[in-house]
Amino acid sequence: MDDKKLIFSAIQPTGTFTLGNYIGAVRNWGPLQEQYNCIYCVADLHAITVKQEPAKLRQNTLAAYALLMACGLDPERSILFIQSHAHTHNDLNWLLCCNTQFGELSRMTQFKDKSQKHPDDVNAGLFTYPSLMAADILAYNADLVPVGVDQKQHLELARNIAQRFNQRYGDFFKLPEPYITEVGAKIMSLQDPTKKMSKSDENVNACILILDDKDTIVRKFKRAVTDSEAEVAFREGKDGINNLMSIYSCVTGKDYAAIEAEFAGKGYGDFKLAVGEAVADSLEPVRTEFARLINDKAYLKDCYTKGAEKAMKISSRIVSKAYHKVGFVDRPF
Ligand code: TYM
Repeated sequence: MDDKKLIFSAIQPTGTFTLGNYIGAVRNWGPLQEQYNCIYCVADLHAITVKQEPAKLRQNTLAAYALLMACGLDPERSILFIQSHAHTHNDLNWLLCCNTQFGELSRMTQFKDKSQKHPDDVNAGLFTYPSLMAADILAYNADLVPVGVDQKQHLELARNIAQRFNQRYGDFFKLPEPYITEVGAKIMSLQDPTKKMSKSDENVNACILILDDKDTIVRKFKRAVTDSEAEVAFREGKDGINNLMSIYSCVTGKDYAAIEAEFAGKGYGDFKLAVGEAVADSLEPVRTEFARLINDKAYLKDCYTKGAEKAMKISSRIVSKAYHKVGFVDRPF
């Protein structure tokens, strides 16, 4: 490896990605390939912390892999693989679990939210989810982790776990830094702009899926909840408009002042239509490329096989060293 910094990130295979996943994370991953060594994976191990239908999970995992490529990740330039194909993550997870406190895991807001949503299945995997996430990152000694704001707490925990390991066993893991964009790191629901946009929202109009067709996207934006004023301006108390402005800013590259000037004297109807069209148009190439890739199963398999081989090569070296550090007898094979 050269002296470029190493990026690691991952996404769960929940069918298609939301506009939140796209703007907050995946869209930024492609450009990072220019400057960094990048490793990205589809987090299927994390996905089974909530109930999944096996055939659907397999299908969704492949779709997520193809979508990452359609969003600009190049398997020749990045290491792009499926998490369960690299058993090193789980091997390291156990060491990290033994260095993670019950109290720390209990404080995770995602755990609290998900256990409330699925009270009949508060399983141990859901509880220890953040240490597996730490293992994903630390198995490569990644420097930077590009994520949306909702993953910040998990990343802070990953740093604490790494630090604890280093204190116990001697300096070994790098402390990974979150890499969070200024605008778009938390895209909100179109129906309740105080809540994060999420695929699990029961109201289909709350969430844009990146494979939605143009009409659907425009229709959902037209129905977006705003406020009773009629001024396109970014300020406190205008959660709906602020959210639409940050989405529009991310897809057009315009700053808030330019957006305010563009829509001065115009109503919310014009603004919502413009946002919907800009989002749909920016996603058009992703949809086209996805349709092409998902039909080429042999190519996808070739890519994820090579990706897993490369991921294993790096992570098995690091994980073997970590095993040695904790005092395990070196593996004879
Ligand atoms: P996941 O699959 O929930 O989300 C993938 C990425 O999308 C971001 N994101 C958002 N960003 C802005 N606005 C939103 N409304 C929004 N919703 C989601 C997330 O912050 C994330 O960056 N645990 C992770 C996957 C994971 C991971 C890792 C990430 C597994 N191992 C190691 C980083 C490093 C997750 O469930 O993301």
